[in-house]
Amino acid sequence: MFRGRIIAGVLATAIVFLWFYALWRLSSVQPQFQIRIQDRLKESHTVGCGNAAAPNQFLWEDQVIPSKDLVWVDCVPGRQCARLAVPLNYSDPEGEQAVIALIRKPALVPKSSKFYRGPVLFNPGGPGFSGVDLIVQMGDLFASILGPQFDIVGFDSRGVGRSFPRASFFKTDVERALWGPTILSMLGTVSNNSYEGIARTWASARLLGQLAAENDDGYLKHINTDQTARDMLRIVEAHGREKIQYWGFSYGSVLGATFAAMFPDKVERLVLDGVLDAENYYATLWSNNLLDTNKGLDQFFSGCAEAGPLSCAFWAPTADDVRQNFTNLIKSIRARPLPVRTDLNYGILDYNSVRLAIFICLYAPYHFFQFLAQGLAELAAGDGGRLLEFVKAPPFQCSCDPSEHLYDVVWDAQTAILCNDGDDIPDDLKSTQEYFERMANTSSWADVWSPIRLSCVGWPKFPKDHFQGPFDSNTSHPILLVGNTADPVTPLASAKKMSHFFNGSVVLTQDSPGHCSYSSPSVCTQKYIRDYFVHGTLPEPGTVCSPIGKPFPPLPVSSDTQVPFVAEEDKELFKAVEQLSKIPFIPFPLRM
Ligand SMILES: *[C@@H]1O[C@H](CO)[C@@H](O)[C@H](O)[C@H]1NC(C)=O
Ligand SMILES: *[C@@H]1O[C@H](CO)[C@@H](O)[C@H](O)[C@H]1NC(C)=O
Ligand SMILES: *[C@@H]1O[C@H](CO)[C@@H](O)[C@H](O)[C@H]1NC(C)=O
Ligand SMILES: *[C@@H]1O[C@H](CO)[C@@H](O)[C@H](O)[C@H]1NC(C)=O
Ligand SMILES: *[C@@H]1O[C@H](CO)[C@@H](O)[C@H](O)[C@H]1NC(C)=O
Ligand SMILES: *[C@@H]1O[C@H](CO)[C@@H](O)[C@H](O)[C@H]1NC(C)=O
Repeated sequence: MFRGRIIAGVLATAIVFLWFYALWRLSSVQPQFQIRIQDRLKESHTVGCGNAAAPNQFLWEDQVIPSKDLVWVDCVPGRQCARLAVPLNYSDPEGEQAVIALIRKPALVPKSSKFYRGPVLFNPGGPGFSGVDLIVQMGDLFASILGPQFDIVGFDSRGVGRSFPRASFFKTDVERALWGPTILSMLGTVSNNSYEGIARTWASARLLGQLAAENDDGYLKHINTDQTARDMLRIVEAHGREKIQYWGFSYGSVLGATFAAMFPDKVERLVLDGVLDAENYYATLWSNNLLDTNKGLDQFFSGCAEAGPLSCAFWAPTADDVRQNFTNLIKSIRARPLPVRTDLNYGILDYNSVRLAIFICLYAPYHFFQFLAQGLAELAAGDGGRLLEFVKAPPFQCSCDPSEHLYDVVWDAQTAILCNDGDDIPDDLKSTQEYFERMANTSSWADVWSPIRLSCVGWPKFPKDHFQGPFDSNTSHPILLVGNTADPVTPLASAKKMSHFFNGSVVLTQDSPGHCSYSSPSVCTQKYIRDYFVHGTLPEPGTVCSPIGKPFPPLPVSSDTQVPFVAEEDKELFKAVEQLSKIPFIPFPLRM
């Protein structure tokens, strides 16, 4: 298992950060899952000094030569990898090159078959998360949903992981790991809702901007969504095709919307899933993400009360009772932070860390609600081990083998992409304080969320001559947008807003908590998505899908509890969507 270095690698903010970070944390307490990943990769992860490097590590730089054509080589079981050379700057196409790392799970039908339908590109969000990791881990499930006629393709966008250029604000990984004010520790200071907290965050962000500028070897300004959209077109063209088929999650909806607005004639299929308001994103506002966050929390309370004490460890007779117990617990931890020592870790479990744990759990209720209830019940009984291990990285360990970090996905990429993309923000403390106040007026989660924008205070000033809108477009095929009714960070309203820009587009509503469609197992939703990719059809405007089953399943199963009904022909699909909602994507590098 990776230790401290992961934390450095993953401690970024933004939409999906918390989600994926959490998933990784959880994996450390879920041995079965750990084993499954490792089975797939047929290797073991190392813990730093003393452990041999994985024997069949796939070294991208030695084993795949960058090329303007796609040259696929086997890399991990069931997957092929390639590196595509593209212009670093599309306004200077003969100049220096960037190199995009790609992975695919090839279609099961041969290319010569009349059923073959070409590549579907995926983006996992972040920004800054690895599309390669996504397809290693979830490619089979996406293939089960879409069908055997598609290549399932992921890529690390420029700035990220195995692609070049790669964003890095530090000379070494140790330096990065030891940099105190990671976004997460900033978060701790913001969350007291005091000016002093904001001021510290502001000062840290300015210092970080300075480090970014100092360590910039001239590539930083080329890392943005505009250039990545152009990279995607190159990827499509390198497949010998003209138009894109794409499914983007969270920030991936910004990338998809950007592509559609820049290349409206190049759209064959485009799904935006967990939709961000891209105008708000490009204005570096991050101000309308939290509209539905507390709806998810309400469902935690009501779901727990409804499910009974066997399913929900934090059970109380009514939703209000659960909420009251919850509020009391949070208050008491605020007054008395808890020192915690577990086998693997130690630290102070305080108000901030408990709130962070709760926020993360709202991303994937089917995966986390029972876990959270267990953690809260244990905390109420004085044991904070489960929650501490969830939110806090184990003590940092140096690695002896520098190559271990070669393809780490580090949070620098996220900051680089979102700060480059968005408008510059005012550098002064007063504006920063006002921003926080406005956020705090609209959401009780302002403390958790504000650091995203604040991470751009002090960001180097590059010319903003890349695409930032407008989005209005007549796309060559209408776009499908998917929004959940209680998504903690991409509210349904954003999907509806973005839909207005794209002529003929339709919003498919999933009546569920969680972030992005796959966080809740809905056969209905995934069938619409499959039909869209396969036949190009869109749901009727106003269509609403429900998930199957509940985050807190009714226990014990008896004749009067509702066992989810799944039609015979949907059983396979249900298996895939259920797994997607429960097997989380983990952003740590897979040593491949
Ligand atoms: C890209 O190249 C064009 C043309 O040479 C140049 O004007 C522009 O500044 C370059 N962009 C960046 C971000 O360097
Ligand atoms: C939190 O902020 C309040 C003011 O809003 C202040 O009175 C209190 O001392 C702060 N607590 C900590 C632990 O900094
Ligand atoms: C929750 O509240 C109920 C009363 O509504 C109380 O009996 C119970 O002990 C509380 N449980 C916890 C874990 O605080
Ligand atoms: C926040 O809300 C309070 C009370 O509604 C109001 O007085 C204050 O002006 C608001 N602040 C901002 C920055 O919107
Ligand atoms: C879309 O097409 C309509 C008519 O065909 C045209 O009026 C409109 O300006 C187009 N919109 C964009 C953004 O190109
Ligand atoms: C949408 O596209 C249709 C043609 O497909 C066109 O007639 C219509 O004017 C477009 N609407 C807008 C608002 O661009």
